[in-house]
Amino acid sequence: MCGIVGYIGSKQAQPILISCLEKLEYRGYDSCGVAIDSDGIEVYKDAVRVKALGEASPRFKGTTGIGHTRWATHGPPSQINAHPHLDCNGNIAVVHNGIISNSPELKARLIKEGHTFISETDTEVIPHLIERYYKGDLKKATEAALSEIDGSYAIIVLAKDKHELIVARKDSPLIIGIGDRENFIASDVPAILDHTDRVIYLEDGDLGVVTSSGVSISRNGSGIKRAEQKILWSVEEAQKAGYEHFMLKEIHEQPKVIRNTLAEYSRETEPVLDLGKIRDTGRESIIMLASGTSYHAGMVGKYIVRELLKLPARAEIASEFSYYTSVLPRTVAIAITQSGETADTLKAMKKLREADCRVIAITNVVGSTASRIANKTIYTRAGPEISVASTKAFTAQLMALYWMAMTSSITDTRRQSALLTELRQLPGKVQQILDDETGITELAKYMSKYEHAFFIGRGINYPIALEGALKLKEISYIHAEGYAAGELKHGPFALLGEQSPVIAVVARDNTYEAMLTNIKEVKARKSPVIAIVEQGDEDIDKLVDSVITLPKVDTLFSPVLNIVALQLLAYYTAKERGCPIDYPRNLAKSVTVE
Ligand code: AGP
Repeated sequence: MCGIVGYIGSKQAQPILISCLEKLEYRGYDSCGVAIDSDGIEVYKDAVRVKALGEASPRFKGTTGIGHTRWATHGPPSQINAHPHLDCNGNIAVVHNGIISNSPELKARLIKEGHTFISETDTEVIPHLIERYYKGDLKKATEAALSEIDGSYAIIVLAKDKHELIVARKDSPLIIGIGDRENFIASDVPAILDHTDRVIYLEDGDLGVVTSSGVSISRNGSGIKRAEQKILWSVEEAQKAGYEHFMLKEIHEQPKVIRNTLAEYSRETEPVLDLGKIRDTGRESIIMLASGTSYHAGMVGKYIVRELLKLPARAEIASEFSYYTSVLPRTVAIAITQSGETADTLKAMKKLREADCRVIAITNVVGSTASRIANKTIYTRAGPEISVASTKAFTAQLMALYWMAMTSSITDTRRQSALLTELRQLPGKVQQILDDETGITELAKYMSKYEHAFFIGRGINYPIALEGALKLKEISYIHAEGYAAGELKHGPFALLGEQSPVIAVVARDNTYEAMLTNIKEVKARKSPVIAIVEQGDEDIDKLVDSVITLPKVDTLFSPVLNIVALQLLAYYTAKERGCPIDYPRNLAKSVTVE
């Protein structure tokens, strides 16, 4: 997810492009650039934030230009990989948001035809393809180029002395902002709201020619009209797409994130990592290594590997692991880190590499330090996660772990295909939870008056109890603790009572009966109980004070649905308590110190 912008009018384009890009940094901020038609295409780009680019960039004269702020997917953040990208002669510049899935084949062919590539990006094929077809008509050449491209794209094309911008979209958002003798193009409305509130939303397959005096749109070669809409949001509201907080927006992005992450992986021809074969490579044990929320994902990963691959796996807290005096040789480590920059996790990864262990990173940030330390990196496709409390990155990490295990050589292939089918239904089931939050918002009102809370779970949902507690304490400042349900009687029972509600994550698996017993024990000690259960579970109703019922799913996938419900409960409880949800006190999004 990147942010792209374009301007054509009578004012100097560069300062306008910079201010528009600043408002799109929530879409990606690892590098950026602009290109201005200034008596030839002038480009300035670098691996810096937009503000720094604006300060460092030479002042290019020109009233037509394009810009980009990046969230790297192909090629780490660098000056070379930053957009805009140019053709061989530097006369055509392109900014792009999306992924060109057939870029390797196109690049290979274009190189054979004499084109020279300088970056590691998928995007660079676009200006070269347009150049290949360019005979003076930029729109025609762009159309021909796009007919060869597979994948997703929103693009803006600038060419020397053409006094027009060509725009097109497929599976990536793009809007045109209508001004007075000037027009704006952007990935999203926050970018242009300072300049106009009149917007045209392009649809998939639309191709447009934008000049300072007008906009013409076509589809499959024939002209069409798109309605103009008036935007009523403020810039800040628009950055959150109308949600009050980035956290709620990111919780609601999870169906799309799960779909994108699975789509990305299913394009891979080779299993990401065939865990089923690690024994053949003389490797013996698998460890999941991480911190905070990512550590909880690792704990779920441990259950997935044990359950599906019958292999010994354990989860290690990175800050502890770094101080072990010895590392078991022949270990395969899966280091999980959203930011890819968490000092505790990086230190442990280096220790494992030094001990000649194989280290696989699961990270959300392309080019991050973790991806450079690891032998191999699996990227989650959650897009930028702005809210300090991690939500969509967690479910994307679970998708990476499910995919890795399920594409490894599993003996029970019938179960494997049944699980793959169910995995693809997950986005729809998560959407069902998001479409009906009433029960959860009501419970949040109830929870908001307590200062203490306990979360309990068993088996693959024990880490979900830990994660639910972490979410609540992080943003609502309620002192919440997660426990393996069987552990409560070994001490924490002493803290139970009317002032300590217990949230029980109850799965319909081999732990079900034991969970019912634990709930009865908790009730006997006067703690109110909220149970997260599967639809149709009447038994539990009679036992507890309130229930949150979720769609039926194979237990292996129940952590995904359960955590979405607990993210929402934490969010609405914190909201009831008036907490600064996106930027909670004393915390940072990426903890780069030990
Ligand atoms: C989660 O909501 C927190 N922000 C924190 O626990 C986080 O998960 C931890 O710092 C690890 O971060 P990472 O995934 O970027 O390595």
